[in-house]
Amino acid sequence: MRETKIVKITDENDIRISELGGIIRAGGLVCFPTETVYGLGANAFDENAAYKVFEAKGRPSDNPLIVHLSDISQLETVAREVPEEAYKLFEAYSPGPLTVILKKKETLPAAVTAGLDTVAVRIPSHPIARALINAAGVPIAAPSSNLSGKPSPTKAEHVIADMNGRVDAIIDGGMCSVGVESTVVELAKGTVNILRPGGITKTDLLKVIDEVKIDRHVTEQVAEGEKPKSPGMKYKHYAPDAEVTVIAGDKQKTFDEIRSRITDDKETVIGVMCYDGFAFDAETVLYMGDDNISYAERLFDALRQFDLLGVKKVYAQFEEDEDYGLAVRNRLYKAAGGRVIHI
Ligand code: TXA
Ligand code: MG
Repeated sequence: MRETKIVKITDENDIRISELGGIIRAGGLVCFPTETVYGLGANAFDENAAYKVFEAKGRPSDNPLIVHLSDISQLETVAREVPEEAYKLFEAYSPGPLTVILKKKETLPAAVTAGLDTVAVRIPSHPIARALINAAGVPIAAPSSNLSGKPSPTKAEHVIADMNGRVDAIIDGGMCSVGVESTVVELAKGTVNILRPGGITKTDLLKVIDEVKIDRHVTEQVAEGEKPKSPGMKYKHYAPDAEVTVIAGDKQKTFDEIRSRITDDKETVIGVMCYDGFAFDAETVLYMGDDNISYAERLFDALRQFDLLGVKKVYAQFEEDEDYGLAVRNRLYKAAGGRVIHI
């Protein structure tokens, strides 16, 4: 255990950011807000600091970290080759929730990329994240700042619950706006392959690249012994203590289905995640907003809340779509451990 400084910062010009950047440069760990989820940041050029990140999270050492930059001009400090498509993507969608896999520069420590020859690079748009990278004066290697196996944190209270005593400082910068982790893509000859769906959607990517594929492991489980394109795909994602069942389909039909299931079950402590405007007679009803953009923003917080409230069974109302819906689906179906009913 170490003492963790918790610093509330609302303004990117706050002078304390320079001190926090100094902690990172010197090899310390600082949790910080980004527009997607909170990150657990370390100096990307300090191998020992990278080891500390894996230790603080309890993360398997074969799952690489994302390197965060504040500007496109820094790409070649961490990547040895930046293809035309990468520049096109970053020019269109950075700063923002997009991570691109590039060939790694030799000088970047192997611990950061878990020994891979590639590096995942992202330029976050959150003003405090950008100010912190600039203050550190080095690229920041940062996974999501949850304990391994927990949902990514979208509020400072989630970070404090998981990381207090394990890092040097936590910046409380309020709630993250996207709510799910960045879109991760790899490039191959004019094609983009989505390895993790997020806030930059297939429709967005098609505006700058002619062909966009969705890796099959975005929607299918990784089989025993199979080696997915991104190591993170093989790890079991967070499943709450409650048994989650996704009822997928049209909003009205899913509403009717969940309502009848609740009526038939009077014994269990039931929770529901649903779109606005639907009333359920359950112990805990968490409203996810009108669409899948707000669903993404609230999803991880809702999963944490069900556990805190001791809910035993959760029904999630969900209407699929190919854009933000794909990002929600990827996390929600994992949380449900495959219990998905399409109606
Ligand atoms: O939005 C985000 O991306 C957040 C914030 C903090 O920036 N970060 C985040 O990091 O979600 P993390 O470590 O929780 O997820 C990184 C994912 C993992 O699934 C990992 O396997 C994959 O990116 N990844 C990292 N480097 C890779 C590489 N070289 N090749 C393939 N996948 C990689
Ligand atoms: Mg993570």
